[in-house]
Amino acid sequence: MDRKEIKRKITNLKEKNNIVILAHNYQIPEVQDIADFLGDSLDLALKATRADAENIVFCGVDFMAQSAKILNPNKNVMHPDMDAKCPMAGMVDAESLGWLIKDNPDAEVVSYINTTAEVKAITDICCTSANGEKVVRASSAEKIIFVPDRNLGLYVQRFVPEKEMILWPGICPTHHNIQKEEILSIKKKHPHAEILVHPECRPGIIDLADHVFSTSGMVRYSKESETKEFIIGTEKDMCYRLKKENPKKTFYSLVSAVCPSMKKITLQKVLKSMESLEPKIELSEDVMQKAKMPLQKMMDIGRGD
Ligand code: 13P
Ligand code: SF4
Repeated sequence: MDRKEIKRKITNLKEKNNIVILAHNYQIPEVQDIADFLGDSLDLALKATRADAENIVFCGVDFMAQSAKILNPNKNVMHPDMDAKCPMAGMVDAESLGWLIKDNPDAEVVSYINTTAEVKAITDICCTSANGEKVVRASSAEKIIFVPDRNLGLYVQRFVPEKEMILWPGICPTHHNIQKEEILSIKKKHPHAEILVHPECRPGIIDLADHVFSTSGMVRYSKESETKEFIIGTEKDMCYRLKKENPKKTFYSLVSAVCPSMKKITLQKVLKSMESLEPKIELSEDVMQKAKMPLQKMMDIGRGD
């Protein structure tokens, strides 16, 4: 089937099967183009609760589709490729986190949204890259267990030095491997470009940046800023949306920054999922109920960027 035909079928099925397509900012360009709503993890969680459709096809990684299901237990949430898993979310499990909680009964658990539903179920409050500082600051606890992204934890710790933060040793391979040299060689050729990076980057990369944002924070800032050129220190397909929404500005991507899991969702898989309303996210009632509370608390706090 050619691409045009797939797109036509996708458009028809949205109405026929009452489906809304939510997609993360790192999705491949073709998937971004057919989405009803594009966003970062926080936007997508909020949008999932407001989606006026019986069925959600979620184009992103596992924890994002699971969060949409937890927040909408009565809707069908389809994830077109169940193998699209965030490796960082797999770096913390509920059993090991449980041991750390037992060792630190006075600490509050702040889990990055990039975690499994089981980890969220034993979490006090979730956060995303758009509100990590705001969430930790809002906690009444002096001691915080922060899982699983050590780089995000180190970034948040800069703004709340008064809190003791126990950082889990997880990382995002895509962001952790971003090298200074790649950014500096672009900067050398384009000295007026501002450097925007994601807080999952290592501290040395954060220090190089002009600004640190979640992916939707980058969208908002680049639109509002007077600056005309930007170096984007995050997954490379982020630049597709930025260029599309700011045709008069220039965005330089890091060719090495690819999230293989995000690339698993294709137009063909989206169509298949819309036709069959499969594969569906299924979670136990008990886990969903427990995991909803920390997500809801995070959404009540809202964006911090
Ligand atoms: P955002 O919430 O900033 O889009 O980040 C999600 C993510 O997985 C970044 O790697
Ligand atoms: Fe997970 Fe990193 Fe991919 Fe984001 S970019 S989904 S944190 S592996």
